[in-house]
Amino acid sequence: MKNTLKALSFNILSNTVMKDMPTKIKKQLKQSWLDSSNTETSLFLQTTRSNGYVLPNFITEEDLKSFCTFKTRPGDVFLGSYPKSGTTWLAEIVRCIVKPRSSGKENFVPLFEVADYEQLEALPSPRCISTHLPFALLPHNNENNVKYIYIARNPKDVAVSAYHFFEGIPIFGFKRSRCTWEEFLENFMKGEVPGGSYFDHSLGWWTHKDDDNVLFLKYEELKKDLQSQVKIIAEFLGFHFSDEEAEYVAERCTFQAMKSNSNLPIHKLTKFFKTSHLRKGIVGDWKNHFSDEQLEQFQKLYESRLNGTGLNFEFEV
Ligand code: A3P
Repeated sequence: MKNTLKALSFNILSNTVMKDMPTKIKKQLKQSWLDSSNTETSLFLQTTRSNGYVLPNFITEEDLKSFCTFKTRPGDVFLGSYPKSGTTWLAEIVRCIVKPRSSGKENFVPLFEVADYEQLEALPSPRCISTHLPFALLPHNNENNVKYIYIARNPKDVAVSAYHFFEGIPIFGFKRSRCTWEEFLENFMKGEVPGGSYFDHSLGWWTHKDDDNVLFLKYEELKKDLQSQVKIIAEFLGFHFSDEEAEYVAERCTFQAMKSNSNLPIHKLTKFFKTSHLRKGIVGDWKNHFSDEQLEQFQKLYESRLNGTGLNFEFEV
């Protein structure tokens, strides 16, 4: 396709299904779309590397510097996760806890990595900032009483969720035919996927699990008993919650409640991603995808990376 025609079709996409995307991502996607006939790589598969961490290509060296030096404010809360671990879920729980107890003005940032810093500056405190960055690459101004909540999920379900999610992103279709589950899993195990190595990411955060300003959560625990986990999160954020208050938030944050809540900002992105951030929301979907051989290889990797670290997961609840 000629470049002018490509640019034109991109502009149509940009003004319709991609309307609500951050400008930065749109620019990168456009470049990638224009370059697509000349290269085999893609925006998400090409990677920036920092401290051994593999990051999506839209993160530049310049960005990495500004992440570390970002001016935090007292009360800022970072909501960290490896992609597809329950980022949206955690953000909604925190929103339901914080919103009625703050000014009511929007103070949530969907993704720190692509945020506009001027807009961030203008948000009222406490800002709640979601991020997929490794712990080490985030700003750490502890004197500002910044808090960090991380949600981890068992890696087999993360791989499955990521496979379905990334195959829905048009950018992959620009460059190559859909990758198979087998190919995707191989890349996931090597850490050559948009979130980088699952194990490096979760262990990087796990090392800080006992810090006073860090709360380390597990997706499977939330599935087992959401109400108790809501109480733990509220307490960590400085709110003492009664059982009734926790129950109220938990009811609004079940998978079904979130799926049918059309006001959730994340639903706006569904058209672009072609797959919902709320797909199945269960523990154990890995059973529908892994072959016996894949399970064996995965288990070896899991044990070699996590044995002795204290970090482990339940694979069914
Ligand atoms: P599945 O693809 O396995 O369904 P993220 O927000 O980090 O992108 O993670 C998305 C995953 O979290 C999806 O997993 C999604 O269904 C699940 N999820 C989102 N909200 C949830 C909820 N309220 N309860 C359970 N799972 C939820």
